[in-house]
Amino acid sequence: MTEILLIMPASHRRSILTDETAARLAEIGTLREAPTATDHADPRVRQLLSTADVLVTGTGTAKLEEQDLRAAPHAKAIIHAAGSLRPVVGKYAYDLGFAVSSLASANAVPVAEYTLAMILLELKGVNAIAATYRRARSTVDVDALLARRGVYNATVGIVGASRIGRLVIEHLRRFDVDVLLADPSVDRPAADQLGVQLVDLPTLVASADVISLHAPLLPETRHLLDGPLLARIRDGAVLINTARGALVDPDALVTELLTGRFRAVLDVTDPEPPPPTSPLWDLDNVVLTPHVAGSRGMELQRIGQEVVAEVERLVRGEPLRYSVPRHLYAGNA
Ligand SMILES: NC(=O)c1ccc[n+]([C@@H]2O[C@H](COP(=O)([O-])OP(=O)(O)OC[C@H]3O[C@@H](n4cnc5c(N)ncnc54)[C@H](O)[C@@H]3O)[C@@H](O)[C@H]2O)c1
Repeated sequence: MTEILLIMPASHRRSILTDETAARLAEIGTLREAPTATDHADPRVRQLLSTADVLVTGTGTAKLEEQDLRAAPHAKAIIHAAGSLRPVVGKYAYDLGFAVSSLASANAVPVAEYTLAMILLELKGVNAIAATYRRARSTVDVDALLARRGVYNATVGIVGASRIGRLVIEHLRRFDVDVLLADPSVDRPAADQLGVQLVDLPTLVASADVISLHAPLLPETRHLLDGPLLARIRDGAVLINTARGALVDPDALVTELLTGRFRAVLDVTDPEPPPPTSPLWDLDNVVLTPHVAGSRGMELQRIGQEVVAEVERLVRGEPLRYSVPRHLYAGNA
């Protein structure tokens, strides 16, 4: 029977696996749990690795180094019950013959939901007006405050037709908005299929009422939004970043936000969290959340369900749904 080895902190395991999904997993194979997710050299872990057929990792699993994977000679796959692979395994896994699977697509669902919620709230001026109302402690001039706000006929700029970016585009089809896309890997026919207008990044930044970042952090996307591009953002627009803080030059961002010219919804920052002295904590034109757009709370159970289904596919010899081929490893990391 297939030996399924869970290597993840007990807290993560409890969040993703309900009694029901854990029972399903135990039906598919022999379920084993590593006593620690952070010390793979522990002799008890080594023993479990020596007979395991599939390794299931999660948030908080320490990186499985090459020697750790070599200690699992029967294991065929690593299924990562979270998004980014880099914290748990390197590219050497492919050289050792492992199939690698990451639940990043399942994790895309809540990020796209968060983004849609923020796009709508920001276009409707809800976050801004709530802050103004609280400070005023009295009636505020709603018509003046909302004169240039609203979802109707707004322009939303999506940076990156990534898993998450595509889901956001899909959600936006239901609304009366124009969607612009900047993504060097997308051509015009593909953009037409997505129902978006393909533009370059400077055009998107200068034209959108909402700019939402969904590109991965790669050497070439570091500070993708630098000072000159941030300066092109329209007055009254909003920049939403649920991707990675370092996609935006952090000093230039603070400089721009201090002027109050545009707003920002930042689920990610660089550094994360911002230093205690950062103006980002206090600015009325900034909504700051502590990297919560991904799967949280009950949403983690979706990850558990999908992990079980992925292990099932592996055991049946079916193609993995969340497989990350070698050439896409960097983008997932
Ligand atoms: N806030 C959270 O909790 C949370 C959770 C999950 C993911 N994320 C982040 O969200 C982002 C998107 O994740 P994903 O899994 O959808 O990404 P992904 O791996 O699907 O992204 C790859 C795609 O990004 C696009 N891309 C690459 N370079 C680009 C560039 N220079 N400009 C524009 N687009 C470019 C391409 O379409 C490429 O196919 C990542 O930065 C990820 O780290 C955040």
